Amino acid sequence: MSETRDTLTITDNRTGRTYELPVEDGSIRAMDLRQIKVADDDFGLLTYDPGFKNTASCRSSICFIDGDVGILRYRGYPIEQLAESSSFLEVAYLIIHGELPTPEQHEQWVYEITHHTFIHENIKQFMDGFHHDAHPMGMLVSTVGALSTFYPEAKGTGAETRHMQIVRLIAKFPTLAAFAYRHSIGMRYAYPDNDLSFAGNFLNMMWKTTELKYEPDPVLERAMDVLLILHADHEQNCSTTTMRVIGSSDADPYSASAGACAALYGRKHGGANEAVLNMLQDIGSVDKVAEAVAAAKAGEYRLMGFGHRVYKNYDPRAKIVRELAHEVFDITGKNPLIDIAVELERIALEDEYFVSRKLYPNVDFYSGIIYQAMGFPVSMFPVLFAMGRIPGWLAHWQEHVLDEEQAISRPRQLYTGADERDYVPLSLR
Ligand code: CMC
Repeated sequence: MSETRDTLTITDNRTGRTYELPVEDGSIRAMDLRQIKVADDDFGLLTYDPGFKNTASCRSSICFIDGDVGILRYRGYPIEQLAESSSFLEVAYLIIHGELPTPEQHEQWVYEITHHTFIHENIKQFMDGFHHDAHPMGMLVSTVGALSTFYPEAKGTGAETRHMQIVRLIAKFPTLAAFAYRHSIGMRYAYPDNDLSFAGNFLNMMWKTTELKYEPDPVLERAMDVLLILHADHEQNCSTTTMRVIGSSDADPYSASAGACAALYGRKHGGANEAVLNMLQDIGSVDKVAEAVAAAKAGEYRLMGFGHRVYKNYDPRAKIVRELAHEVFDITGKNPLIDIAVELERIALEDEYFVSRKLYPNVDFYSGIIYQAMGFPVSMFPVLFAMGRIPGWLAHWQEHVLDEEQAISRPRQLYTGADERDYVPLSLR
């Protein structure tokens, strides 16, 4: 009886040699290709993968996505159940620790986060130094990085040190985010209120004016919490990969988080929901939607908030955000852009161009509409994304530094430059 083995047989037609490589978890090890050489002094075969479109850079047990079906799970729990029944801090615990907390663990976790929300007064002064109309995301990138100078012990490698920085980063992100916003509009900072929930306190720091005690609307507080849950992790995306790459050099987690924020700042990543809002505003009314879809099909522009590298089905987060939008509008009043968005989705999902390319709404399609209805300016959209994503970044950073198979991230290149040549003095050029 012939035995089937999980291997890949490669014949190198340059030499006629055959190699058998093990296949594990549907992958081969790139380093196994290095034995494939044309001469003894040959470096060995490399893989070339711009954009890492087909490279698994780690083993991870944090987040599972099945893009063909439209499934997203954190540590095995479906995103729909977490959005329905959990809270952002509980999800943060789950993502970082791998299991849902017991009631005691939950209480301790919430207590710790709540009691680290304040930032050093010098950070506030640092914030004051920004230009009056500085972009809040630029301020977030800088101040998160600056935190590393306040906690030099963060470079340590012990479990307790790691835990402390994880707590600080999750706790201080909303404070930095809200302070950045208040600075950008020239408004006095509102300090954290430890009586409020994580989301409620964030809304307090954003919107508190002259009232003695800010009381968040429970529907908006819950909506904020759900939006944070939906953004908490999404496996090896650009910013998470950045977090891992920086962490791989043993940089502290504040510096790594600043890098992750910077990666998120770009419009191909955390900036897409702003682009959706601009697009809907440009379309202007429901009767112009068909025209706009035709222009996108003709390649004049891309429908923002449509399509995803991984999801080739409806992004499960987009479904939840769409439902949430109506609950928010009951409180804030309807954002008229929702009618344009719903019509756009209806037409696109019936159109052969979008159907054949498997282009569905992604999480950014509806989130900007909710944020706008809640009063957030578009410049805050990537900041809100970062606030939700910080537990995911930290969980990946921790997983990476504890993974004995990992080494400093250092890809190879295919050199395309000049061969050796002699320097020519300036006077002779
Ligand atoms: N509108 C119109 N056509 C599109 C769109 C779109 N939004 N997205 C992809 N296509 C077409 C594209 O022109 C190409 O067509 P063809 O095969 O005829 O050349 C085909 O679909 C495949 O596109 P691709 O660029 O190879 O796909 P990708 O996986 O590299 O890109 C994407 C994924 C998200 C960058 C892209 O779909 C896009 O630009 N979407 C709009 C921006 C957006 O919503 N980004 C948010 C992503 S989710 C949140 C996050 O990750 O931060």
